[in-house]
Amino acid sequence: MGLSRKASAAVALAAGAIALGVVSAAIAEDARAQASAIISDRCTVCHGDNGDGKGPSADSMNPRPRDFHDLKWQKSVSDQTIAKAVMYGGSAVGASAAMPANPDLVSQPDVVAAIVEQIRAWGR
Ligand code: HEC
Repeated sequence: MGLSRKASAAVALAAGAIALGVVSAAIAEDARAQASAIISDRCTVCHGDNGDGKGPSADSMNPRPRDFHDLKWQKSVSDQTIAKAVMYGGSAVGASAAMPANPDLVSQPDVVAAIVEQIRAWGR
């Protein structure tokens, strides 16, 4: 039983990898690790540990950081727009200027791609 559950998890993973396509398959594991550390250090205070927009600083914001699990928003936004918001801040994409820019990430497109991947994962 344990084995078959593992096997079906592997199938689901493989299907997910196919659906994500070449771009995310090309993200190196160390970029993913860096992205995950950056999200914990810089983002969760507002966006929440699991991207639900309920970080400790969120209550003082208007508009509040959105819930990344919101499928309607996920469909409405391109990867490029998410990446732009992360690098250049909310005002660069017509969102709140309370969303800070991360200029150091402009030179690390692989880390930005891994951050976008995590934000997309919250929509699944
Ligand atoms: C000081 C609080 C704060 C921090 C820190 C912060 N954000 Fe935001 N973020 C916001 C707010 C507020 C918005 C805008 C919500 C709106 O206008 O609807 C936003 C918007 C965004 C958006 C655009 C989504 C949209 O609303 O269209 C993305 C993507 C995003 N943040 C990702 C991140 C990532 C990744 C980090 C960490 C590198 C981060 N944010 C750090 C507060 C923050």
